[in-house]
Amino acid sequence: MLIGGFGTRLRPITYSLPKQLIPLAGKPMLYHVLDLLPNDVEEVVLATGYKAGMIDAYVRAHPARLPLRTVPEATPLGTGGGMKNAGDGMSDPFFLLNSDVIARVDFLEMAKQHAAHGGIGTMGLSEVEDPRPYGVAALDADDRILAFVEKPELADAPSRWINAGFAIWNREVLDAVPSGRAVSFEREIVPGLLDRRVYGFRMSGYFDDAGTPERLLRSQRLLFDDGRGGKGALPSGTFGKGPVALMTGARASGASFGPYVTLGPGATVEAGAHVENSILMEGVVVEKDASVRASVLGPKVRVRSGHSLVGQVLGEGVEA
Ligand code: GDD
Ligand code: MG
Repeated sequence: MLIGGFGTRLRPITYSLPKQLIPLAGKPMLYHVLDLLPNDVEEVVLATGYKAGMIDAYVRAHPARLPLRTVPEATPLGTGGGMKNAGDGMSDPFFLLNSDVIARVDFLEMAKQHAAHGGIGTMGLSEVEDPRPYGVAALDADDRILAFVEKPELADAPSRWINAGFAIWNREVLDAVPSGRAVSFEREIVPGLLDRRVYGFRMSGYFDDAGTPERLLRSQRLLFDDGRGGKGALPSGTFGKGPVALMTGARASGASFGPYVTLGPGATVEAGAHVENSILMEGVVVEKDASVRASVLGPKVRVRSGHSLVGQVLGEGVEA
């Protein structure tokens, strides 16, 4: 799993933590991707870079269902370089997963299709309205990928089927990636692999890339609607409408809620305050009679009594 990007589109939050540790519907983004993996996966390898130590510490403290190992890179190696750097001991074939994708996918079915087609790789594809922020595939009648363009202009997009960031590759793909330098797998490597037969696996469930503030909140709504954020009951002693996911030590007695809220570890919403469609990270305090809507609040943000926030993304420790 690739987990080494800087999360630039989620600054200032990502100045203090990697985006994969931002909680969505009650748990960090990264764990929602891990949840999709079949039980017979032998090992998950996290190709880390930016703030690798924080990811390491988090996964040690919160063991996942599957055995997990982190392989940090000293300098950012890009998606291809990160894969190559973590490639030793990889199974044949192996899954290559982005860590910021919120989707429903049947990986067993995808593996079956990969084996049946016998190509070098199978990329999970999702159909979207606007393909410009993604890698876009042109497919033939057998779902073989004939062309792949990363982040095209609309006029150059060959279809609306985009790389969902979940793929299966045969080990030999690692030989196609140069070592020791940054490599964009999507731009530099994938187009050259198409001659060796790469197939698309059309995914039909929801898909989102949680890498921007707007998509982060949309991803959280998708997860809650899919039942992946707990039962959605309101915390006891609160009013309004859930789902609200309460992480360890979060408190909200006497507060009111609208739907789609995560209260991170130790976050406090005081009596008379209101929160909806938002992510409040570890240690956030919303003082009495304040309100927070459509916002992502980084660790230890404090919203002063009576203040109203709408559509804000605030970095660690800000007082608003
Ligand atoms: N190890 C490592 N090293 N991982 C990295 C690095 C790096 O230098 N740079 C990025 N990553 C990781 C990110 O953490 C993320 O999980 C994944 O690689 C993809 O990087 P993003 O920065 O999120 O790329 P994107 O969203 O613009 O585009 C990618 O994802 C789309 C689907 O969400 C591409 O794979 C597109 O083709 C795809 O459509
Ligand atoms: Mg992304």
